[in-house]
Amino acid sequence: MVDVILGLQWGDEGKGKIVDYFAKDYDVVARFQGGPNAGHTLYVEDKKVVLHQIPSGVFQKNKLNLIGNGVVLDPVTLKRECDTVAGFGVDLKKNLFIAERTHLILPTHRALDKAAELSKGNQKIGSTLKGIAPAYMDKTGRNGLRVGDLLDKNFTTAYIKLRLKHQKLLDNYAFAEDITAWEEEFFEAVEFLKQLNIVNGEYFINQQIKAGKKVLAEGAQGSMLDIDFGTFPFVTSSNTVTAGVCSGLGVAPQTIRDVIGVTKAYCTRVGSGPFPTELENETGEELRKIGNEFGATTGRPRRCGWIDLVALQFACMINGVTKIVMTKADVLDAFKELQVCTHYKLNGKESKEIPFRIDRMQVEALYKSFPGWNVPTSTAKTFQELPVTMKSYVDFINQYLGVKVSYISNGPGRDQIITI
Ligand code: GDP
Ligand code: IMO
Ligand code: MG
Repeated sequence: MVDVILGLQWGDEGKGKIVDYFAKDYDVVARFQGGPNAGHTLYVEDKKVVLHQIPSGVFQKNKLNLIGNGVVLDPVTLKRECDTVAGFGVDLKKNLFIAERTHLILPTHRALDKAAELSKGNQKIGSTLKGIAPAYMDKTGRNGLRVGDLLDKNFTTAYIKLRLKHQKLLDNYAFAEDITAWEEEFFEAVEFLKQLNIVNGEYFINQQIKAGKKVLAEGAQGSMLDIDFGTFPFVTSSNTVTAGVCSGLGVAPQTIRDVIGVTKAYCTRVGSGPFPTELENETGEELRKIGNEFGATTGRPRRCGWIDLVALQFACMINGVTKIVMTKADVLDAFKELQVCTHYKLNGKESKEIPFRIDRMQVEALYKSFPGWNVPTSTAKTFQELPVTMKSYVDFINQYLGVKVSYISNGPGRDQIITI
């Protein structure tokens, strides 16, 4: 049996914290897509940790964590992260497994990402510059190198061949960067990676499922950044939605039970691209300040706005969401009035659908207004303690989406979560 936790917005919904919270009820936690573009924050022994590639179940005792084949893996980031995690006394030899079919991010992928972004000028995607798109391009272009290849005696030859190809592309961009230091780091990290548990991921996970173990699949990015269903081209390069679980881990669709969608009580986006409910004003500034909305991976300020039910309903539909977790509800404590986007006006016409290319349309978000609660909620432990005004806000969202908010997260801490 596989349950899924994934983001319903443009990323940074609080997936890391929620996976860490739920992981205690599972045996295996598995990442199925994305790479070090992700930044999943959790608190361990009151210390903040940001995970980029290791699944967020790694701090729960006696759990197995799998980096699945759908991920693109940067050995350098992985080594750094392993050092951090090991610093908390976690034995990675026992609980971290890496699928041999996982594609590698090479130093030249990072350079290509940078070159491509620079060449786009003001049309840039706002990529995290971690080499994600070039690595996935080499996967679908059938050129990429995979974790299993590291164990082959011809790995260095294959690496040099691919690097030469990348160099030609970089020359086309007229992009020059000395990657000697990156390469040194890369090969050092490769030696480290070879010592970890490299497994056949699809047999590993299916044997677990067959033995009755419970698997939690951890999404990265968010549904609106999905390569097929997001706000293309302002998206990431993988399937962030539930469908990505099957191809990113090698599990059959009928093994999937619950799909737990995570949304903030408002909305944020980092990088370029359409964001209908964005607030480019003082209210947006306030959300950023109170919510501490700065990227966990790049430190960039996140764009902030009201919750967007048109986009959320779309995400619930594509993912088959069965339960919703609403995070950062406490951030709204300070606001006198809240807005909830119920419709878009697209080129002058009202709609409740996400169109083909919203970035090419005149978009106006239409709102329903709600009174704020203006009381501190971050110490509440039960649903009963929450203000009536918050309950009506949540109730409206439940009705609109036809899926229930089953948990409310009211602070970044491990225990700040309320079951409804
Ligand atoms: P992820 O990428 O989805 O895992 O989310 P990030 O870690 O990038 O961003 C979420 C941020 O919000 C982190 O700094 C979390 O510590 C914080 N956070 C998570 N849940 C809550 C919450 O309920 N309230 C508040 N105030 N902060 C939260
Ligand atoms: P988590 O897992 C928020 C955004 C980037 C950029 C676009 C493409 O922490 O929620 P990429 O580096 O993937 O080529 O960038 O996607 N992006 C994210 N935004 N959270 C993330 O991950 C993101 N990963 C990528 O800002 O707009
Ligand atoms: Mg994040």
